[in-house]
Amino acid sequence: MTTKQVGALARGGIRGCVLGGLFAAAAVLVPVGASAEEVVNIYTTREPALAKPVFDAFTEKTGVKVNTVFVKEGLAERVKAEGAASPADVLMVVDIGNLIDLTDQGVTQPLKSEVLEKAIPANLRGANGDWFSLSARARVAYVSKDRVKLDAIHYEDLAKPEWKGKICIRSGKHPYNTALIAAYIAHHGEAKAEEWLKGIKANLARKPAGGDRENARDILGGICDIGVANSYYVGLMRSGKGGPEQEKWAEAINVILPTFEGGGTSVNVSGASVAKNSPNKANAQKLLEFLVSPEAQAVYAEANFEYPVVAGVKVDPIIAAFGPLKPDSIDLAKIAQFRKQAADLIDRVGFDS
Ligand SMILES: [Fe+2]
Repeated sequence: MTTKQVGALARGGIRGCVLGGLFAAAAVLVPVGASAEEVVNIYTTREPALAKPVFDAFTEKTGVKVNTVFVKEGLAERVKAEGAASPADVLMVVDIGNLIDLTDQGVTQPLKSEVLEKAIPANLRGANGDWFSLSARARVAYVSKDRVKLDAIHYEDLAKPEWKGKICIRSGKHPYNTALIAAYIAHHGEAKAEEWLKGIKANLARKPAGGDRENARDILGGICDIGVANSYYVGLMRSGKGGPEQEKWAEAINVILPTFEGGGTSVNVSGASVAKNSPNKANAQKLLEFLVSPEAQAVYAEANFEYPVVAGVKVDPIIAAFGPLKPDSIDLAKIAQFRKQAADLIDRVGFDS
């Protein structure tokens, strides 16, 4: 994403061994005298299986055991209710809004870490060390291989009459779309965003529904020509992880990385914070710093076909094939401030109805 952080990583993270080497060398890497009691407790809204290989590598390197608690909903509320007795050390969530909510609800604490500051671009972390992005996903365009001959598009173009009856999209109220609309407001202001949303609504091929992958399904089915969706779903579909049917959906589309006029591609993130009452704060810091090492970044991002947040880390070939990502440079924290306005706009234009 930016290019200056690579050198810092070598100092902060594990040195040039590949992850496979980590597993093999685990026995000798565990520090002498490391206590079997050393733990770090993660509360996460993500499927823990996604990150398990990375957590295992962390344990093998440091001797610190990782406990994950999968909290599908109400993570902040749970930590709040547990209060000072909460065992949570690290809180992991998806979507910038959810990340910032953790801090707004008072369940995080700032972390000062040179390693994290050097590894993660400033627009992808909280200014006070309240939250850190660990992987990124782009809001991209799925376009019909057969019917759309384009290799670039602006988000602004989606409101143009040439797309009338041709756009598929999920609910405007889904956090992925709310974040995109918030980014649009950050670029152009609320009035222009409202016009844009009305334009897209007028261009819809069907009511906003389903998930992102259904855009590809409906492009294959001839219902629409273009959809707005997250980048990693293409990885899940094309790799066969989503099953044979979804592989066919993915065959029907090309992917374009849209940009804002005068800006870049809209990205959202997964990330983590240190919990306010973390009983193992030193281990929480150790884990977060490990997660931005190039080796861990590659595995962590690839598990869900995401973009690493650390410069120079390899992207899965399916995702790399979309071409170079030029992330929009507006601070995610700034974009998140427009979420409420974005949600109100969606209601006002009756986007989903
Ligand atoms: Fe998703």
